[in-house]
Amino acid sequence: MAMDYSEKVMDHFTNPRNVGEIENASGQGTVGNAVCGDIMRVYLDITGDNIIRDAKFKTFGCGAAIATSSMATELVKGKTVQDALKVTNKAVMEALDGLPAVKVHCSLLAEEAIHAALWDYAEKHGIQIEGLEKPVSDISEHHETKVVG
Ligand code: FES
Repeated sequence: MAMDYSEKVMDHFTNPRNVGEIENASGQGTVGNAVCGDIMRVYLDITGDNIIRDAKFKTFGCGAAIATSSMATELVKGKTVQDALKVTNKAVMEALDGLPAVKVHCSLLAEEAIHAALWDYAEKHGIQIEGLEKPVSDISEHHETKVVG
């Protein structure tokens, strides 16, 4: 790749963790970006006391989208649903030692896919996760404002 990717990004791109599906997932969410056409789906297996036991993903997208979904699923595993909200795109980028500026939106796909799966979980169980906003299915309209800060 011509772009300037960190070793961690390259590692998670060439050897992604948590690829696959979870049957009868506690929550699953799919988001896309209509501009680049990339799509990400996240599956979460959540215990009765709201701990994320397992996370898997399928991403039809660029290398950075694959690396960020790999890292994001790694980061949410073992966390409570509440703490999983702290796995923002910024946290994912930091864990990957950064992303080139044009690839920042790829990390948002990972954040939103996790949120979508958590939203699905909350809806199925009739609970509310404090601070979780209803996710959008197309992040391309929203990411400009969300990336700032
Ligand atoms: Fe769209 Fe990476 S180029 S997610």
